[in-house]
Amino acid sequence: MTAQDTQLDQYGRLKHFLTIEGLSRDLLLEILDHAESFAGVGERAVKKVPLLRGKTIVNLFFEPSTRTRTTFELAAKRLSADVLNLNSTTSSTSKGESLQDMLHTLQAMYCDMFIIRHGNSGAAHFIASRVSPDVRVINAGDGRHSHPTQAVLDMFTIRRHKPDFPRLRVAIVGDVAHSRVARSEIHALRALGVPDIRVVGPKTLIPAGIESMGVTVYNELESGIRDADVIVMLRLQRERMRSALLPGAKEYFNCFGLTNARLRVAREDVIVMHPGPINRGVEIDSEVADGARSVILQQVSHGISVRMAIMAMIMGSLAPGREAG
Ligand code: CP
Repeated sequence: MTAQDTQLDQYGRLKHFLTIEGLSRDLLLEILDHAESFAGVGERAVKKVPLLRGKTIVNLFFEPSTRTRTTFELAAKRLSADVLNLNSTTSSTSKGESLQDMLHTLQAMYCDMFIIRHGNSGAAHFIASRVSPDVRVINAGDGRHSHPTQAVLDMFTIRRHKPDFPRLRVAIVGDVAHSRVARSEIHALRALGVPDIRVVGPKTLIPAGIESMGVTVYNELESGIRDADVIVMLRLQRERMRSALLPGAKEYFNCFGLTNARLRVAREDVIVMHPGPINRGVEIDSEVADGARSVILQQVSHGISVRMAIMAMIMGSLAPGREAG
């Protein structure tokens, strides 16, 4: 069974959230619309809505995370759910327990949803295909395969600034080879009708055959970001590189680091995005990361409302359709 078969119910509604691949434009827009309706909750005096009151959500993070873990926790709490946080050092997997046994143990405590980040591609799908029918699973990043909630929050951020997806030029720059974010974003951008999607980086960091995903490859920064409306910068994921694929961080910055001078070839109203964590002076200069074109911290804020929408949708707490309640 594919992840797409596993994540949708018989009516095409989200049951789990595992991958962007195969999601329809309408379903993506429905998530964005629901997220828009949650965006104001964080600005209220009481930052809570009762949609998931009485539900128990478990954050299972087997890889480091700042943004994703904390925004999932905040999103769950703002939906009034109870939240447990487990990681590879605080769980009994560090004593040799299998993921499946851990899962059965947590299910015996009547948990309603698992949010999983794992170094192995397919981990969230593995869990989703083994949980009880009433338990829900969200992929918070699996290996280099997929980071679907990051892609949705990035689409939400793009839509806030540039709502006309079929007119956009989007450049994804950096270590595409090891990036689950890049893969998920390409699927999302294509589903939303973006006609010009570019991947930009040295040959060693661009996967062979990626053109089959509907993107154009550039091995030189200036030509890749020329006239771009959106630039997504990616971190060098050295923890996933099996051998030295680059001469060094300084040389990389000299060729592919985004500076204000280089940004001038993009559109004047370009937005600069980065899923984080950022490495200043490696893929991005501080003057860009902290500059007027950067929407990096907006991405973080949007992560809360997007994750609230996805959690509420898969729990069946929102009416299906484009208008959020
Ligand atoms: N974007 C992202 O996944 O960041 P974290 O690793 O901090 O969660």
